[in-house]
Amino acid sequence: MDIVIRNASLPDGRQNIDIAIQAGRIHAVGERLALGAAQEIDAGGDLVTPPFVDAHFHMDATLSYGLPRVNASGTLLEGISLWGELKPTLVQEAIIERAMQYCDWAVARGLLAIRSHVDICDDRLLATEALLEVKRRVAPYIDLQLVAFPQDGILRCRTAFANLKRAVGMGVDVVGGIPHFERTMAEGAASVKLLCEYAAEQGLRVDMHCDESDDPMSRHIETLACETQRLGLQGRVAGSHLTSMHSMDNYYVSKLLPLIAESGVAAIANPLINITLQGRHDTYPKRRGMTRVPELMAAGVDVAFGHDCVMDPWYGLGSGDMLEVAHMGLHVAQMTGQAAMQQCFMAITETPARILGLEGYGIAPGCHADLVLLDAGSAVEAIRLRAVRKVVIRRGQVLSTAPAARATLHLPGRPAQTDFRLGR
Ligand code: FE2
Repeated sequence: MDIVIRNASLPDGRQNIDIAIQAGRIHAVGERLALGAAQEIDAGGDLVTPPFVDAHFHMDATLSYGLPRVNASGTLLEGISLWGELKPTLVQEAIIERAMQYCDWAVARGLLAIRSHVDICDDRLLATEALLEVKRRVAPYIDLQLVAFPQDGILRCRTAFANLKRAVGMGVDVVGGIPHFERTMAEGAASVKLLCEYAAEQGLRVDMHCDESDDPMSRHIETLACETQRLGLQGRVAGSHLTSMHSMDNYYVSKLLPLIAESGVAAIANPLINITLQGRHDTYPKRRGMTRVPELMAAGVDVAFGHDCVMDPWYGLGSGDMLEVAHMGLHVAQMTGQAAMQQCFMAITETPARILGLEGYGIAPGCHADLVLLDAGSAVEAIRLRAVRKVVIRRGQVLSTAPAARATLHLPGRPAQTDFRLGR
């Protein structure tokens, strides 16, 4: 074997597990495997998970915080207008450089698959070209999936649809949309229909920014679910954000949830961003704006948590840490039961892997040897501690290592404690 990881705990709760890796794939998983290896990694009972997956990100904007100025109000609308100011000044090399830097952050955090939207409303398609170049460069260590995203509206922006088709021709993987930003509810619905038909014709997946508002009457997820069924796109469509569901009438939601489930449409919530951008027109009580995560999950819908933004016109924080995303999602959704906390871990690993259609993801013989060893004993503890990623492996290669979180305590009246394990 190339590598054997000994004495690991797995996200599903199994313990004392060895994982044997050969030629970039997982060869065997089991207790006390009698196999020799060129390299042995002692997990010491700590958690080994498949890599984190971010189902919703904007890599063309990341790490641009403060360019050309900071978002003074911190609102979504100022963010969009700030992005509009920034767009004409963007140069390809700078986008590539920032995205490459973010990808380095991601690897160190065990985040090895990212679905990024790329704004195609700029006729130069400069960001598209830049992120396709980034996708090529990071391919050995990150699966980067790109969504053609018409930020200014596929109908509202005159050249958007032509640009979207060009972007797909250049190699962008997924069809995006933003129906709630079109001029009217009717045009929003027409945009969903147009984009789903185009995706079906091209054999592509769909991931739309959908109902990202506090408007309880926003109905685009309904249209997206219906079009998914009509065009046979089940399992290939995701609705991102869906924040209006937070504010919708409960009776209407009782009809909507089964419709989404039977359509095989996945939901992607972005807790850090939803909680900070929604509810801005409220006084008190202030809505939190995140979609109905536990209710969607209970209805059988795949729900992932995305990061959405890191250091960009919409959000001046973040570091590519999907455990921080899950931690926030868990709190906002009040998913504090044991099984619910476990589901929050799935929302940044297995579920988004399924939404992205990643091949060979997981810890089983035959899967890619893509694994992360954490400074935590379980999935829930990983979220609680936002645990250090001690070893990050991709295709059987160690990409990143980090020391465990330890401190030396000098407490008055007590002997110094070395190797003190933070929070454990
Ligand atoms: Fe987004």
